Amino acid sequence: MSEVDIELGRKKLAWARAHMPIHAILRERFHRDPPLKGVTVAVCSHLEAKTGVFIETLAAAGAEVVFTGSEPHSTQDDVVAALNEQPGLTGYARHGADEASFQASHMAVVEHRPQFILDDAAELTARLAHHRPDLLPGLIGTCEQTTTGVRRLQAMHAEGVMAFPSYAVNDSPMKHYFDNVHGTGESTLSNIAQCTNLLLAGKQVVVAGYGYCGRGLADKARGWHAQVTVTEVEPRRALEAHMNGFRVASLAQAAAWGDLFITATGNPEVIRAEHFEAMKDGAVLANAGHFNIEIDTAALESMAEAVREVRPGIDEYRLSDGRCINVLADGRLANLASPGAMGHPAEVMDQTFATQIMAAVDLVARREELGTGVHPVPDSVDRSVATLKLESLGIELDRLTHRQSRFEEAWRIDDIRAGE
Ligand code: NAI
Repeated sequence: MSEVDIELGRKKLAWARAHMPIHAILRERFHRDPPLKGVTVAVCSHLEAKTGVFIETLAAAGAEVVFTGSEPHSTQDDVVAALNEQPGLTGYARHGADEASFQASHMAVVEHRPQFILDDAAELTARLAHHRPDLLPGLIGTCEQTTTGVRRLQAMHAEGVMAFPSYAVNDSPMKHYFDNVHGTGESTLSNIAQCTNLLLAGKQVVVAGYGYCGRGLADKARGWHAQVTVTEVEPRRALEAHMNGFRVASLAQAAAWGDLFITATGNPEVIRAEHFEAMKDGAVLANAGHFNIEIDTAALESMAEAVREVRPGIDEYRLSDGRCINVLADGRLANLASPGAMGHPAEVMDQTFATQIMAAVDLVARREELGTGVHPVPDSVDRSVATLKLESLGIELDRLTHRQSRFEEAWRIDDIRAGE
């Protein structure tokens, strides 16, 4: 195993810190009044520098923080080492860990008996509920930052397994309008470009799924002058993509013309054998959705005569008819698991993680009144993060006048006229 460069980890953290102004404001506030004092908080996320700053800010809020990775390939060992040297932080994660050690890291975190979990895809929460249900009574709550995780928590609640409140940070405007759209959009395209060293301009790009991530990917690919096709299963989203000027088709159709395919659906086997059969020689496939399930690489492997790595992070599958299909990052998240991938830009993660922290602080304070189940992040919390960001950018907002506020609230005809 190569030696970990802890100094590089420190530098990565310092760069991220310098570009996460909301966290700087929060750290200063928490210094005066630490809202998570004495709470053991577990973090499960992609372990790179921005997550590191998030973890540091939770510690500044008074929490004892224990952390682990949500994806073995996105863990950066130098950042983990630079966090582990700080007081109040304990991490268990290693880049490229096999399934057994990945699970062991999660269980090591669970053994710290977390009172709060800030989770990704509800991985840690599900592990605690499944393997250590005796710890559930000690869990104040969780915050969840992914679409997949919110769905899993809802499934747990429907089965009566959930014994705590959770905030669906993923569904908050501050998350999906910025992180999913701009974060996933920019970081996925830039990592694909870096990994392949190929041009996007003029290419036929097929985006599977026109949700928040898909919208960002499709818009930005168009901004890079690609010709973009969207595939969908939801009629209103398909119509929206059509009216936003994209070509909309089934994947069975688009398979024939795509040069680059990007999945962002959250569903398994979106690109599968029937699509590989129709693809052009040299097609490139990347996933920006959930884990490594959206591209059926097992089916592709069984169809292939030979598989070889043609560039770091690109596997070429040679089919019996001579066509080659290229898969990036083993079908894992291209913006996080391709070589040199750095995940979302720092400014967008500043917002997402600040929303997580503010939601956690709110949930801990309101633990008695919030019932078991998945709750939306209170609008006041979400707005406060946007306000802090605008402040840090020096952008001023207008305020409703008294008359405008009265007009918005009125329903009696006389009151409405008085407000006009
Ligand atoms: P969303 O629910 O807004 O959008 C998903 C879209 O995919 C929906 O419109 C749905 O109708 C469509 N869809 C589902 N199955 C499909 C299929 N077989 N073919 C075509 N379309 C299909 O979800 P969002 O927020 O866009 O997230 C999508 C995925 O991306 C989730 O798994 C989420 O966890 C992940 N994600 C990844 C990030 C990254 O860093 N790469 C960041 C944020 C989210």
